[in-house]
Amino acid sequence: MHNLISTRVTQFAYFDHLLESPVWKGRKVLDFGGNIGIFLTGAGDSVDHDDYWCLDINREVIERGRRDFPQAHFVHYNRYSSQYNPNGVRYLSIPDCGIQFDIILAFSVFTHTHQSEMLELVEQLRGMLAPDGVLAFTFCDPRYDRSLSDPTLPSGSDVRKNLERARVKNSSRDIDEIVERACQAKWCLLIDEELYVEPGYEFSQQERLGQPDESYCTYFTVEHMASLFPDAKALPPVSPEWQHCCILRKTA
Ligand SMILES: C[S@@+](CC[C@H](N)C(=O)[O-])C[C@H]1O[C@@H](n2cnc3c(N)ncnc32)[C@H](O)[C@@H]1O
Repeated sequence: MHNLISTRVTQFAYFDHLLESPVWKGRKVLDFGGNIGIFLTGAGDSVDHDDYWCLDINREVIERGRRDFPQAHFVHYNRYSSQYNPNGVRYLSIPDCGIQFDIILAFSVFTHTHQSEMLELVEQLRGMLAPDGVLAFTFCDPRYDRSLSDPTLPSGSDVRKNLERARVKNSSRDIDEIVERACQAKWCLLIDEELYVEPGYEFSQQERLGQPDESYCTYFTVEHMASLFPDAKALPPVSPEWQHCCILRKTA
């Protein structure tokens, strides 16, 4: 399962920029889908470990986080996912951590869930915010050229990257045509090299029996996210990351 261990350390800089350098010290932070808690590595001294909670459905990363960051709080969320938690419980609600959070973050989590699951989980996360709390989560716009954020990457969208990766395993498909269809969609799901435009709930992680090693990625346009979350701000990526961000503030 080592490929499921995150090595990205840019999350703190990314959210700090988009949230306009909030006060982090003394604020309770929930990193939803935070993996091994590598957010803390990028955060350095800015976030006290005992103010940090990481919730993830992958038991292995939670155990590793507990070892690496013993002062922080790691909670296993035993929700089913064919990829990350095949023995988990379908439709399980997010566990109550016993506190309200000032800042809730989710980096590259709803990029791997169906729209309905994203709506369900975001609603639950909203309910975990303290008065004046903020929730920030990333999403991928299918039209965004990743090289605009990171010039070392080949030009093209995340959809193209994933199709090219999947192509190694499978036969030839017209990648340009699939990329074009993804660009026309309000939202879409790419499972390996199969694209589904606005698929029904039977394609959600909770309903379908996926394969453990498949790639399951969802894409939402900025305009569509704005219509799903009318009280949110949908912001462009912060280099070198190429994911957009949705920011929801709770007003007291
Ligand atoms: C692509 S990784 C991103 C990890 C980390 N946030 C980062 O920025 O490196 C996605 C993470 O979300 C977790 N995850 C996927 N679905 C989830 C869900 N429904 N609830 C909580 N965590 C989930 C996975 O186990 C994995 O650790």
